[in-house]
Amino acid sequence: MGIYLDNAATSYPKPDVMINKMTDYMKNIGATAGRGGYKAAVEADRLVYFCREMICKLFNGSDPAKVIFTSNITESLNTVINGFLEKGDHVITSGIEHNAVWRPLKTLERDKCLEISTAPCTNEGITNAEDIEELIRPNTRLIVFTHASNVLGTIQPIGEIGKIAKRHNIKLLVDSAQTAGAYPIDVVKDNIDILAFTGHKSLLGPTGTGGFLINCDMCIEPLKAGGTGGDSTLEFQPDYSPNRYEAGTPNVAGIVGLGESLKYVHTIGVDKIREKEESLINYALKRLSEVKDIEIYGPKDSTKIVGVIAFNLGDIPAEDVAHELDAKYDIMVRVGLHCAPTAHTLMGTLKKGAVRIGIGYFNTKKHIDVLVKALKSISKK
Ligand SMILES: Cc1ncc(COP(=O)(O)O)c(C=O)c1O
Repeated sequence: MGIYLDNAATSYPKPDVMINKMTDYMKNIGATAGRGGYKAAVEADRLVYFCREMICKLFNGSDPAKVIFTSNITESLNTVINGFLEKGDHVITSGIEHNAVWRPLKTLERDKCLEISTAPCTNEGITNAEDIEELIRPNTRLIVFTHASNVLGTIQPIGEIGKIAKRHNIKLLVDSAQTAGAYPIDVVKDNIDILAFTGHKSLLGPTGTGGFLINCDMCIEPLKAGGTGGDSTLEFQPDYSPNRYEAGTPNVAGIVGLGESLKYVHTIGVDKIREKEESLINYALKRLSEVKDIEIYGPKDSTKIVGVIAFNLGDIPAEDVAHELDAKYDIMVRVGLHCAPTAHTLMGTLKKGAVRIGIGYFNTKKHIDVLVKALKSISKK
């Protein structure tokens, strides 16, 4: 395996304890959760509940029943956006959203006359929370904001946005894809009503896991209907959580793995993870600036970003840079628009895209050194 610098897409490597736990579940338990009364099924229930508890512990949620599992944050965001917003509502969002937010909003704009306002931000993705207050209208029902951009890395002032949302009695939905597990999040302190998360990035869990944590009373219609393992005579989804939103056999193996990777994250501590990543980001920003003709997008300040750095090398097409990094140096990075066209519009890179490195907990300064050396020789040619 070469040097993996695509942790913003999914984290790699995964902790052995997580892989071993999933293997143990599949070899020795096997039963699904929420559907049986025999010992193995009860054990599967316990493991799934443990994961809900771990999520609460990480984000300061108060009720494990309000942790809903989905297959990824895209499904979480779609569930909340589609299940909460009604015809003619107004929503405020950032100008740097991932398509997991942007497309469901645009679809509702087309189909249900949803009104969308995007908060202004600099071309480095820096938002001033006060600008959001000015966008509020009588029909504003939701603010949906990414916690950190997956292209520029910029961390958004979620705590301040939360205060504004609370003051105006507007719900706040946060996309934590790039921060959960990498940056401290407290749904109570930050007044986050719904925190959407994905399991396979900095939570170090397997792909196919994600969810949302409900921290308020809010009427959200479920996206799916189907079996929940109980109350089978009801013709509609039960009205209690989590069953209301978890139709169909869950990804028990994935959730068991996620529970174990969360335990691993807790053992290290998110503060320590952030400390290590911030120092690597700082190092990467410094070293990358040595490369001839490099243009780095986003704030050049490690305290303002997560481990996401996007750049271009002069006129060399981003695809060529990424291809050479892979083919010649075995370095894995992501290239293109990163499913976030609005961020690239801000950066002026909608046509050419950019190269993005995603720094994770298991990266080292050595990895950055090898990357910089490779970029220097690509740039020289
Ligand atoms: C900010 C942001 N939101 C949403 C997503 C979608 O994540 P998933 O593919 O796990 O649903 C990503 C993934 O890259 C992301 O970076």
